[in-house]
Amino acid sequence: MSSSTATLETYQQHVEDEWTAPETVNAWDRWLPKQIGQFGPATALLAEAAGIQAGDTVLDLGSGAGDPAFTLATLVGPSGRVTATDLAEGMVQACREHVQARGVSNIDCLQADAQSLPFPDASFNRVTSKLGAMYFTDVQKALSEIRRVLQPDGRVALVCWGAVERNPYVLHHAGPFFARAEIQPPPPDMPHPFRFAQPGTLAAELERAGFLDVVEETHVVPMPWAGPPEELWQNFYEVAVPVRPLIDGLSPDEREAAIGEVLAGLRQYYDGSYTSPPGAFVIASGAR
Ligand SMILES: C[S@@+](CC[C@H](N)C(=O)[O-])C[C@H]1O[C@@H](n2cnc3c(N)ncnc32)[C@H](O)[C@@H]1O
Repeated sequence: MSSSTATLETYQQHVEDEWTAPETVNAWDRWLPKQIGQFGPATALLAEAAGIQAGDTVLDLGSGAGDPAFTLATLVGPSGRVTATDLAEGMVQACREHVQARGVSNIDCLQADAQSLPFPDASFNRVTSKLGAMYFTDVQKALSEIRRVLQPDGRVALVCWGAVERNPYVLHHAGPFFARAEIQPPPPDMPHPFRFAQPGTLAAELERAGFLDVVEETHVVPMPWAGPPEELWQNFYEVAVPVRPLIDGLSPDEREAAIGEVLAGLRQYYDGSYTSPPGAFVIASGAR
């Protein structure tokens, strides 16, 4: 086994450990309804970049418990269909339960690794992923699979986190922890939340994979959380799996001081109903 293969296997195992843990799945399941609203503006950009229309057949990758699948299902309407997929079977099960509870008839939930898709060639006319692509260990393999399952007139759109320094949502939640820990920049090919934050990096991957008409933009948009700052912090702590070791690695005193700073920072975005720190997102799309 070559050392790069061994590295990819280590990364993949890490991704699987992070996203299949029951407490992670439970958190993404529990918070889904509020997160759909919180990420509404980012999802609107994703749908626009993918060119989603009524009647489309959409494959959503790394769907978690069902965001953005539910929004996309509304956009494609009864004549369209969304296939919501995730690496983690627990996430897929959670998505299925939300589909049943909401009585939605145009979403199918299926376990699938983006790097090895269980679909015939040319099965979909749109492929999307919100905050999933950063974790596709071998991103070129995933993009080649995406091209394979897209129809000739198909389009892919991917949303990833933008740079920390342009991202009040991330800065206010994680900044106080980043400031208290010694963090080495991760290797560029390692799956992590900010892997494609540097402008142009996601577009370069799409072009390398053979996509045409590649467009990449960074947008800073509101992230309206329907609740107070304390609840938003609790949500972040539970769902931001890659950052959790940093938070839990601090001493109790330092952790408490950092959480105090988080809450003080978030309060400026609270209007009595919503806490809405803006988030920066990289959105890249390409034609098959
Ligand atoms: C940050 S969550 C985003 C979930 C959802 N799209 C959302 O925005 O609420 C990342 C998701 O990507 C999934 N994932 C990671 N690697 C994957 C892969 N190779 N194929 C499919 N899904 C993957 C994880 O299991 C996790 O559910």
